[in-house]
Amino acid sequence: MKVLLLLGLVAVALADITRFEGEKVFRLKPVLDEHVTLIKELAKSIEVDFWSPESAELVSIDMDVDIRVPAMYLDMVFTFLQQNDMKIEVLIEDLQSAVDAQADNKPSPRAHSYTKYNNWDKVESWIASISSSNSDLISKQVIGNTYEGRPMTLLKLGRKSSSTKPAIFMDCGIHAREWISPAFCQWFVKEALSTYGRDAQMTSLLDEMDVFVLPVLNVDGYDYTHKSNRMWRKTRSRRSGSSCVGADPNRNFDAGWCTVGASNNPCSDIFCGYKIESEIEAKNVADFIRRNKSIIKAYLTVHSYSQLLLFPYAYTYELSATHSELLKVAEGASAALRSLYGTRYTSGPAAATIYPAAGGSDDWAHDLGVKYSYTFELRDTGRYGFLLPESQIKPTCEETMLAVKYIASYVQKNL
Ligand code: ARG
Ligand code: ZN
Repeated sequence: MKVLLLLGLVAVALADITRFEGEKVFRLKPVLDEHVTLIKELAKSIEVDFWSPESAELVSIDMDVDIRVPAMYLDMVFTFLQQNDMKIEVLIEDLQSAVDAQADNKPSPRAHSYTKYNNWDKVESWIASISSSNSDLISKQVIGNTYEGRPMTLLKLGRKSSSTKPAIFMDCGIHAREWISPAFCQWFVKEALSTYGRDAQMTSLLDEMDVFVLPVLNVDGYDYTHKSNRMWRKTRSRRSGSSCVGADPNRNFDAGWCTVGASNNPCSDIFCGYKIESEIEAKNVADFIRRNKSIIKAYLTVHSYSQLLLFPYAYTYELSATHSELLKVAEGASAALRSLYGTRYTSGPAAATIYPAAGGSDDWAHDLGVKYSYTFELRDTGRYGFLLPESQIKPTCEETMLAVKYIASYVQKNL
């Protein structure tokens, strides 16, 4: 027992895992221009991790601002904000406890599970086994490797056909810490396979169309959140001249690149990268979609948290030429989602609904010609944020299935 404990300690030390003892997550409510200025100043003077929006640059008036504050700055931040009459709510009292509580620690087989947050090793072996045991409905292909050399394996779901079928592309895990997202892609694949032939809509969808699913886009980052830092967002690319690692893959696409809501500071969590598609993960996805743009009819990308269903544009306040149709479909999908457990989603164009931000995959796909382009921000609205408990994986995935199926069926009817 002692030896095991010692080995455990050594493993943790070697893995150099970041801990969050005493850290808190606050929700600030800036209702005056001065409040916004203060938040931005605060961000300059101490290291604050922005959860929502994802960076100080994105903060504006009347927005809920969720920030993670290191233990040593708590008193200072609290006094500072209260002196300036800003409303503060404590979302998470002790972040390390929340991290520890995220997994339901029932004695569990260390195997893959649809109701757990699987690490990359488990997702990788799941990809291998699910695609080999259902070869009539699913196939896999590697669309490239990540910066650290891990394969990006894309699953293709659909009944085999001699002619090329129209398709839907969906990716999860573009941001590393949004763990509910890859959990949803895995759930989707399972549901598609197990309801084909039983559920009329799924059967018809997979008969007529193919669904490409990329279970984890930012594999390196996802692996890093399991092994080193649970709060990591970006890729893990390095470049000489900067000690800061990674870029935001959802600021790295060719859509008004780095003009708004993105940063050219490599240390920022919304760093747009050194150039368009500098991040190999973004490039691999973009290359695949470009090669297949004649068949791809919808692009879905899954994030967390905030319960939103967003569509273009984010890089401009201008509305898409197909705005009213995109909105109508989003509202239908949100209603379908809500019908199951009453979970409320807000839908709208990203710039006006959250904040303007350039370089996103949704805008890029839309401008390439993929009309139905949607970004999901899954549960919750901040109670747990990125640390959504495993007990919510099932209900979250079930309700999200209804929204995705709603969009898919609309697309299918309007081919
Ligand atoms: N929270 C997401 C992000 O910051 C929102 C994505 C919306 N679309 C966009 N192109 N910004 O990436
Ligand atoms: Zn995200």
